[in-house]
Amino acid sequence: MEVLNTKVVIVGSGPAGLLLGQLLYKAGIDHIIIEQRSADYVAARIRAGILEQVSVDLLEKAGVDKQLKEFGLPHTGIEILVDGCKHRIDLSSLTQGKQVTVYGQTEVTKDLMQAREEAELTSFYEANDVKVHDFYEKPYVTFNKDGKLYQVNCDFIAGCDGYHGICRASIPKENIKTFEKVYPFGWLGVLADVPPVSDELIYVQSDRGFALCSMRSTTRSRYYLQVPVTDKVEEWSDEKFWDELKNRLDEESKNNLVTGPSIEKSIAPLRSFVTEPMRFGKLFLAGDAAHIVPPTGAKGLNLAASDIAYLSEALIEFYLSNSEEGINQYSEKCLKRVWKAERFSWWMTHLLHRFESDSDFDLKIKQAELAYVLGSEAGQTTLAENYVGLPYEIKSLKEAS
Ligand code: APR
Ligand code: PHB
Repeated sequence: MEVLNTKVVIVGSGPAGLLLGQLLYKAGIDHIIIEQRSADYVAARIRAGILEQVSVDLLEKAGVDKQLKEFGLPHTGIEILVDGCKHRIDLSSLTQGKQVTVYGQTEVTKDLMQAREEAELTSFYEANDVKVHDFYEKPYVTFNKDGKLYQVNCDFIAGCDGYHGICRASIPKENIKTFEKVYPFGWLGVLADVPPVSDELIYVQSDRGFALCSMRSTTRSRYYLQVPVTDKVEEWSDEKFWDELKNRLDEESKNNLVTGPSIEKSIAPLRSFVTEPMRFGKLFLAGDAAHIVPPTGAKGLNLAASDIAYLSEALIEFYLSNSEEGINQYSEKCLKRVWKAERFSWWMTHLLHRFESDSDFDLKIKQAELAYVLGSEAGQTTLAENYVGLPYEIKSLKEAS
């Protein structure tokens, strides 16, 4: 067995783990990342693509915004299509100039991995049987790689290992509470090298179910359809996908839609999930390991980033200023923002999706709510300020308040 020593072990090399690693590196804090998958697998995963301004600022602070600045597309508004009629939400004018940036999570991951490689930081990919130990006292992590057993002793463990990870699963049941809502449908996503149907994202509410027209660049589009969670991706040929998307669009968008072969197609279930608390002695949960949102509000990656803003600041304060304040406040601060994003994502999901259980009364109420939100400046402002991202208290970020 090989024994290693470091300050922080990060379990998981998704955006949360990689961003934490990069921010600790910038502050000169020794750490190791342990990931069960291969580097190629991690870099190729297709996920969401909308960054709040505070997430952009954090990537800038981490020194990984070169590609983002060059290729990210600033968006100052979104469209909501209801009953065949498009309504623009002017995000910027409703939020004193804030905007979001279209930049794929896959690219964020690649940029962070490249920065890590350039700085020659230690990551163990394809680590098997990862286990976290003694995290209320003297934490250490064990794993197997290429038939060899490793033990890494550390001061803290960051559980950034996603919804299916082992960190949350290792916490004694009596110390943790989880809150969950599972939705009876999924999103069928298609990525295609065709120009987007519109310059801005279109969120579509229709009798046939929800749809979303998004993009990765001016030549690559990302589209989604609400489908029954029991559907299999093999049942959806490209042709069937494009036909159904057209069925949910307005005339103008239908005419503008450019179709083409899919380069990725998958179905993701929708779930709301929160873990309380997010700190267990010297183990912190961050990102999808601690919470999941349905993708309707585009909050998943942004919430992971805000957890990491708090966690990196707390650890940096601990090592550089000998203060435990940030560590002690981590869970409470994160959860405040998490629950607001959970509420927004749940609300957007309810408002825009078709639920089989919706009664005629429910449908009328949804129609009235949409009419109110879209027809009133107060309603639009509520949507816009949540969509661009609620402010949070981070001393070192310019946008946050
Ligand atoms: N040991 C080591 N690594 C693990 C283990 C384990 N037992 N279990 C899971 N992992 C790894 C996964 O392989 C993955 O690479 O942890 C990583 C978790 O990454 P993500 O699932 O991407 O989670 P996170 O970094 O929190 O990113 C959140 O991803 O799912 C989206 O919407 C979500 O955008 C949000 C973002
Ligand atoms: C995406 O582009 O993948 C995307 C955009 C907005 C969302 C969800 C997903 O709300």
